Amino acid sequence: MNRPAPLALHVNGVTHLVSAAVDTPLLYLLRNDLALNGPKFGCGLGECGACTVLLDGMPTRSCVTTAKVALGREITTLEGLGTRVALHPVQQAFIEEQAAQCGYCLNGMIMTAKALLDRDPHPSVETIRRELSRNLCRCGTHVEIVRAVQRAAELLAEQNSVREGVRA
Ligand code: FES
Ligand code: FES
Repeated sequence: MNRPAPLALHVNGVTHLVSAAVDTPLLYLLRNDLALNGPKFGCGLGECGACTVLLDGMPTRSCVTTAKVALGREITTLEGLGTRVALHPVQQAFIEEQAAQCGYCLNGMIMTAKALLDRDPHPSVETIRRELSRNLCRCGTHVEIVRAVQRAAELLAEQNSVREGVRA
């Protein structure tokens, strides 16, 4: 284990200084040092996806990503998507479709769906299933989760058409 050193992490648009060894899992720093509890500890082995964050927009398993890998990159957590009064369309869609039972997998599902919709605003059902296939849901909420991603695509399209209308 390396000695603790001051590290600057760019999280949700803000730079945070933490003191940690560079091989500390990013998940520990987010949850324990920065109190960002959106990312969850599931397996701790990179297998379940509960800890997913975005690193420069790419879904990344923060339990097996060291602080060193995250340095100098933009880290986005669930807390960086929307607020309680202004939810991100993906969050809104998961609520509308009631796509949760225990909810433990939702951080990973939402962050992975967000990254997918940023790349592909109109994904097919097959694409949604494929992209989320490595995110495990023990409650069997898959049907609702796929519907939520489809609904999120609709909400984002509506949001974009309103923006274009305002600009015109
Ligand atoms: S907790 Fe990171 S993949 Fe399971
Ligand atoms: S809703 Fe419980 S693990 Fe997915």
